[in-house]
Amino acid sequence: MDKLVIGNWKMNGRRAANHALLAALLQEPACNRRGVSVAVPALALADVAAQLAGQALSASAQDVSQFADDGAYTGEVSAAMLAEYSVDFVLLGHSERRQYFGEDNRVLAAKYDAAHAAGLRPVLCVGETLAEREAGQDEAVVAAQLEVLIGRADGDLVIAYEPVWAIGTGKVATIEQIAAMHAYIKQWVLRNTKGAVSIRVLYGGSVKAENADAVLSTPNVDGALVGGASLDVSAFRKICETAEKLIKYGNSQDVNLDR
Ligand code: PGA
Repeated sequence: MDKLVIGNWKMNGRRAANHALLAALLQEPACNRRGVSVAVPALALADVAAQLAGQALSASAQDVSQFADDGAYTGEVSAAMLAEYSVDFVLLGHSERRQYFGEDNRVLAAKYDAAHAAGLRPVLCVGETLAEREAGQDEAVVAAQLEVLIGRADGDLVIAYEPVWAIGTGKVATIEQIAAMHAYIKQWVLRNTKGAVSIRVLYGGSVKAENADAVLSTPNVDGALVGGASLDVSAFRKICETAEKLIKYGNSQDVNLDR
């Protein structure tokens, strides 16, 4: 199984710094390969797409409008607009979107459909808060978030498991917690959807150069969604190198996905 690495720049970056960061990443074969992408602010896409034209490293988006058709939706960016800039993946339902913008399953279902219709690859982000985990609700919360996929999962499905308490906090979930939730997510998808031909579950939440090997070698971890460390060339390079090494010498402990 390949290992995807998606950098999530969040609301960071200025044009010159973005250019320098990408110029450095393009020099690194482990970063400039298919399966590595950077999710950048929508406003940066034109610059980023121009710089990445003809390269293997791809540009992705952090969000998309729930409205598929052009029209009177002030401030929105549609999936078709993103597609004009060769956007590869689009993150959907990142916990910051859920928390600060009230995104729920109804909105996310519309975004999922809009992204899919425009040929973008949605990455549905799921994850529980610390209070939910401590209350033993982690699987129930994640299952409720996964319901967006019912009737939608077809082709290559990409999900990012990001425990909210591990995002930007320096706290990484334990290997056991990650392995258990990733297996749970895959089994949930197999039980509740019909279409997907491949299911990849990325882990996100304080992935750094130092823990990339442990995280990416965990069973059923098919890649990483990297926030803070994706803004640092040397950290992101090391994470990409780890992913590439594991593709070559990978593990084979994943859940058997035969239906
Ligand atoms: P982090 O963010 O790596 O800075 O914890 C991950 C994310 O929010 O996607």
